[in-house]
Amino acid sequence: MGISPWEEARPPGDEAIGRLTLDGLWQGARVLLAEGATTPGSPLRKPVLSTVDVGGAPRARTVILRHFDPARRRLETYTDARTAKAAELDANPMAAFTFYDSRRETQLRLSGRVTLHTDDECAERAWNTLGPRNMADYLARAVPGTPSPSPQAAMADGEGDEARRAAARANFAVLVFTYDRLDMLVLGRAIHRRALFGWTTSPASASDDATSGLTAPDDATSDLTAPDDAVWLVP
Ligand SMILES: Cc1cc2nc3c(=O)[nH]c(=O)nc-3n(C[C@H](O)[C@H](O)[C@H](O)COP(=O)(O)O)c2cc1C
Repeated sequence: MGISPWEEARPPGDEAIGRLTLDGLWQGARVLLAEGATTPGSPLRKPVLSTVDVGGAPRARTVILRHFDPARRRLETYTDARTAKAAELDANPMAAFTFYDSRRETQLRLSGRVTLHTDDECAERAWNTLGPRNMADYLARAVPGTPSPSPQAAMADGEGDEARRAAARANFAVLVFTYDRLDMLVLGRAIHRRALFGWTTSPASASDDATSGLTAPDDATSDLTAPDDAVWLVP
């Protein structure tokens, strides 16, 4: 029997929701995150990233999910290193990603920590995947979020493509988010399900996870990703 109604982009239906196990829900979360990282049209492609500013106030904004690595429990997004969020995360790495899939009536809330990468292998690898159009996102001459005298921000011009590419590269950052908690909520017509998944081991050492009791249906690497704790919550 198939355990995951998540492969289809429509509400699972009360009957399927009623049959869901904790393991099935977790596998569903993995399917959804993988879809978000790889499918431009998916609502899961555009989560909200929340941070905390220096005054302790919440800050939230939409970002593009660029990469999902379940074995390392990582999500990645790209940003301009001069943005407020980069400074906020530098001062306080605690963050949350919120996803809402309107087609499946499903919400994922992940919390964890972010590391910023600007001039290491991680940033270089990500940079090399960007096309010229994406590169323009990192070319504003003034700091993003500062007042501008005109609606169109001035762009770094430089001498030719190579100079522009170098200017954009200097502003480019990868935000690597490692989650240790995932709250998943599924709304059916009459039935709702909510579960909390937690990880206590560090991703690097989460190898022989015989403790979780949650089994993976497909490939060997899935075992590395299984939560250490899984519990139903009152929706
Ligand atoms: C659909 C959509 C996708 C976005 N993707 C990103 C992104 O991947 N990275 C990013 O830094 N900003 C992205 N933004 C802009 C942010 O929402 C935000 O306005 C900007 O990053 C400044 O946020 P900050 O001042 O809190 O740092 C996106 C906005 C929208 C509407």
